[in-house]
Amino acid sequence: MKIQLLKLVYFSPTGTTEAIIQSVARGMNQRAVELIDITKPAARKQQLQTSENELLVIAVPVYMGRLPALLSEWLNSIKAHNTPTVCIVVYGNRAYDDALLELKDILIKRGCKPIAGAAYIGEHSFSSSELSCAEGRPDVSDISHAELFGQKIIEKLQSVLSADYLPDINIPGNYPYGGATDLWKIDFISISNSCTQCGICAAGCPVDAVDSGNSSLINIEKCILCCACIKHCPQNARTMKPGLMKDAAIRVNEKFKERKEPIFFL
Ligand SMILES: Cc1cc2nc3c(=O)[nH]c(=O)nc-3n(C[C@H](O)[C@H](O)[C@H](O)COP(=O)(O)O)c2cc1C
Repeated sequence: MKIQLLKLVYFSPTGTTEAIIQSVARGMNQRAVELIDITKPAARKQQLQTSENELLVIAVPVYMGRLPALLSEWLNSIKAHNTPTVCIVVYGNRAYDDALLELKDILIKRGCKPIAGAAYIGEHSFSSSELSCAEGRPDVSDISHAELFGQKIIEKLQSVLSADYLPDINIPGNYPYGGATDLWKIDFISISNSCTQCGICAAGCPVDAVDSGNSSLINIEKCILCCACIKHCPQNARTMKPGLMKDAAIRVNEKFKERKEPIFFL
């Protein structure tokens, strides 16, 4: 089948999910591409509509073994019409649990036709130079894996007249889904004197939890623990305070040192 438009949708507070979807898209080598970055709240106000002549690729990070709960409303508002769809999750070298299955299930309900799925590894959101986990990932090897995945998807689509001829994909996972959707509501960010109030942290926050006039003010009720403000700070002024989150960062650093490899389902 011929694809008229490739639609790339991603949520990526710390940039690893974006790096993966861009690599998959490179491998697909399509001329007409629309990027839909739903990381910021304003972008999530726009509903996604898509047709059967388009190829949809959706990539999201894994939070506590699940899809980030804040995306639920947006994902459940998608209007697709038998659109061939690629489901991708990116996780921080612990596990993706049932998140890829959850993504596939939601997209089927919205009218998508999942034709491929994959789980990639990105540097853990909680990782820092002091307590690293999957540091620097996706790396060169992950990127070429993602490019090859993109190429294989296009080959698969070109081998049939329409997505209707493609069999269902098998995604591993369990019901009920494991993991958790409730995130801690905690004050875990320490801000040093080197903060210049440049506002980069507030601009990059996916839930507008950092006050744009005073970046020391964080709305804990809104915060999703994504650590984008810590990672984006050009002064390295933001770090984790001792407590639950730092303990979680210590745990992922100690327990998930062994490198996991990406996998795709076609
Ligand atoms: C609240 C939260 C929960 C997370 N839970 C998991 C998890 O269950 N398993 C895992 O391997 N990584 C987990 N991660 C790490 C992210 O999935 C991973 O770092 C991902 O690459 C981040 O994507 P981004 O760079 O696009 O923001 C979690 C991160 C956050 C912020």
